[in-house]
Amino acid sequence: MAHCHSERSEESLFVFGAASATLSSRAKLLPWGHDISRPYGVMYLAAMSSVENPTEKTLAELRVRTPESVTSLFAELREKANKEQRRIEKAEQFEQFRVKWVGRKSGILTQVTDNWLKPADAGLKRIVGQALNEFRNHLQSLVEQARQDLDARATQVADTRERVDLSLPGVIRPIGSRHLIRQVFQEIEDIFFSIGFSVVEGPEIETPYYNFEALNIPEFHPVRDDMDTFYIDLPKGAPVPLLLRTHTSPMQIRTMEKHKPPVRVIVPGKVYRRDNPDATHSFMFHQVEGLAVDTDITFCDFTGTIEYFVKQFFGPSVKTRFRPSYFPFTEPSVEFDASCPFCGGTGTAAAGGTCSKCKGAAWIELFGAGMVDPAVYGFVNYDAKKVSGFAFGIGIDRLAMLKYGIDDIQVFFQNDVRFLRQFP
Ligand code: FA5
Repeated sequence: MAHCHSERSEESLFVFGAASATLSSRAKLLPWGHDISRPYGVMYLAAMSSVENPTEKTLAELRVRTPESVTSLFAELREKANKEQRRIEKAEQFEQFRVKWVGRKSGILTQVTDNWLKPADAGLKRIVGQALNEFRNHLQSLVEQARQDLDARATQVADTRERVDLSLPGVIRPIGSRHLIRQVFQEIEDIFFSIGFSVVEGPEIETPYYNFEALNIPEFHPVRDDMDTFYIDLPKGAPVPLLLRTHTSPMQIRTMEKHKPPVRVIVPGKVYRRDNPDATHSFMFHQVEGLAVDTDITFCDFTGTIEYFVKQFFGPSVKTRFRPSYFPFTEPSVEFDASCPFCGGTGTAAAGGTCSKCKGAAWIELFGAGMVDPAVYGFVNYDAKKVSGFAFGIGIDRLAMLKYGIDDIQVFFQNDVRFLRQFP
C-alpha cells in the first residue's frame, strides 16, 4: 500500500487513481495537500499517479485502462470546467476561459483529442470518443451560457446607468447664441429676400479660372497682387492649381454658368487673403456677393437697390453716395459710402469734436460694386447685347464693426465669450 506523491498545481491537483483489475478507478480533483486516502476510505495502489496537466499525457501514461476510469477522468475535467465557468465575471475572464478550454490550437479539448482519443487503445477508443463528444457539447454549452450571462450582466449595468430619474431637477445647458457675423449674414439675407433675391453658396477652394480669369483678371493683371492668396499643395501633375478664394465673386460666374437670366442672387461666405492681421484686416473674413442680371437692368436699379439695402441695414436716416472706382469685372465700378451713422453725417461727435468713427469725413466707405462688365458675359455665354446687370461685394466683418461699434476685427475670431455674450 502506498499513496502517490503529489505535485503542486496552481489551484488544485488532479489525482488519478488508475484502477487495477479489482479496484474501480477514481479520478478526483483535490486541493493540494489533501489526504486522498481519507474522505473516501479507499486505499490507492502504487500505480496511482498524480498529474498536473493530465490532458498533456496519454491515457496509457495516466494508466487509465477501463471504461469507468475514462468516465471518471472526463467527470473531473467537466467539474473543473464548471467551476471555472462559474467564476467568470468579466469579458477578459470569459475569453481566457474560452481559449483555455475550446481554443483551437492548444485548448484542453484539442489536447484531449490529441492525447487521449487519438492514441487510445482500440478497446477504449469508442468510449473515449463518446465521452469526448459529450464533453465537447458540455463545454460548448458552458461557453454559450457564460456569453449569455455576460451579455445579460452588461445590459443590466447599462440599464441601471441609463435609468432616468424623472424626479431629479433638469440640467440647464448653456446653448450660446449665433455669432455676430452669422447674425449680420442673416440680417442681410432677410433684406435681399424681401426684394426677390435668393441665396446661393459656393466652394471656398477655387480654381484660378473662377477666382480670376473668368472675372476678366488675366494671369499677369496687377490687380492679382492685391488679392494674393493661399494655394493648395497639390501632387505633381495635378490638372489645375487650386486656391482659397479671395472673394465671393467666383460665384457670379458659377451662377451664370448654371442659370439663364434673370438672375438675382446673394452669396454669403468665407474668403481668404494673404493679409497680415491688424484691427481691420484678417486673412480669413466674410463677404456677401450680390448679382442681378436681366434684360433691362439699369444703373438706377443698381443704385436704388443699394440705397434700399443701406437704409434697411443702418436705418432710414442714413444716406448713400458712390464714387468712381475700379474692378476688372464691373464697368463702371463704384465704391459706395454711407453717411456716418455715428455722427449723423456731420463729422462732429455728439459731445463735440471730431467724430472718431468717420474721422470728421461725415462719410464711411462701405463696399465696392458696379455694372457687370460685358467681357464677363463672354465667359458664361450670355449675350452682352441683350443683358445687363450689377454686382456688389460687401465685406461683412467691417460692416458689422461699423454697425455695432467694434473697433478690432480680431475679436470676431477669438471666441471670447465676454465679447460674444454682448450679442445674444
Ligand atoms: C472685392 O473683393 C470684390 N470682389 C468686390 C466686388 C464684387 C466689386 C462685385 C464689384 C462687384 P475688395 O477687394 O475691395 O473687393 O473687398 C471687398 C471688401 O472686403 C472690402 O470692402 C472690405 O470690407 C473687405 N476686406 C478686404 N480685405 C479684407 C481683409 N483682409 N480683412 C477684412 N475685410 C477685408
